[in-house]
Amino acid sequence: MIRRSVLIGTGSVLPKRKVSNAELAEKVDTSDEWIVERTGIRNRHIAGEGETTGTLAIAAAQQALAAAGVDGKDIGLIVLATATPDQTFPATATKVQQAIGANGGIAFDVAAVCSGFLYAISVADSMLRTGMAQRALVIGAETMSRILDWEDRTTCVLFGDGAGAVVLEARDVAEDGPGVIASKLHADGAHGDLLCVDGGPSSTGTVGHLRMKGQEVFRHAVVNLANVLAEVLDAAGIEPKDVDWVVPHQANQRILDATARKFGLPPEKVVVTVDQHANTSAASVPLALDTAVRDGRIKPGQLLVLEAMGGGFTWGACVLRT
Ligand code: UT7
Repeated sequence: MIRRSVLIGTGSVLPKRKVSNAELAEKVDTSDEWIVERTGIRNRHIAGEGETTGTLAIAAAQQALAAAGVDGKDIGLIVLATATPDQTFPATATKVQQAIGANGGIAFDVAAVCSGFLYAISVADSMLRTGMAQRALVIGAETMSRILDWEDRTTCVLFGDGAGAVVLEARDVAEDGPGVIASKLHADGAHGDLLCVDGGPSSTGTVGHLRMKGQEVFRHAVVNLANVLAEVLDAAGIEPKDVDWVVPHQANQRILDATARKFGLPPEKVVVTVDQHANTSAASVPLALDTAVRDGRIKPGQLLVLEAMGGGFTWGACVLRT
């Protein structure tokens, strides 16, 4: 038997307001054709009044708890990945903790931008396996719309808001049983300026806006993702043909295609939701995961690979069996 963090529930939410490419094209110099051709994005959801990263995270967490059949008071650890917290502090995770009645356990945020959910899962998995808690909520939640420059067409059409969550439980399972099997994380601060926010509490005293050199990020993303996929599969002792589903960060359809091609994975094994919610940063992997669990594509006993790459740069991947 081996101690593993087992996935026992998923949940996700999008803000009420859905914005199509055509609606965006009324305000910005862009077109549905350009956005679909270059990115695969058709819609994004934008948080309205009263919707924040915290409220979205709470709603996703409640869904994941219901799916797992677990009460909030039984959650001992909350790790929330976000680049758009409600406040500089306290951590948005503590708002979730209070809302679900998990008071007294551990709750903190993780900042790794689009790879945030991979970092959060890896941290939660390590803490569960060392006995810091029995059950964890791992959340990716973002309101990217609040840090976009709505005059910059090269970035504002690419991002959206949303949240996804999973419940993990520490269990002793057989070697070929369920749970997180391997995680690999990386960062390279040399490329920080290719994808960043031009403000912050300690530098400008402002929140700032997202800035990205898209083409350069694209090139690094494909190489880094293919490398970390090879690394994590090797660590898990499996081959690409053993993978049932790849659940990637949803940034751009072309990155998903190029990465799958480079790695020899058939496109029909890749879960794609970028068309419906654009790039939701840390929320995108759990949003895609929950979608494929709820529509029945992901079934118990399957091998999944989650992967993401984002600002920092940061990137990572994780192999788990459902
Ligand atoms: O989540 C973290 C990871 N982030 C990413 O993975 C994003 C990675 N990068 C990308 O997805 C792509 O590079 C973009 C979608 C951002 C851009 O696609 P591209 O094929 O690299 O386009 P480009 O930047 O080379 O721009 C091509 C043209 C330019 O015009 P010129 O210079 O050729 O005349 C841009 O000005 O498209 C123009 N353009 C637009 N046109 C209409 C840029 N944005 C827009 C727009 N609508 N929204």
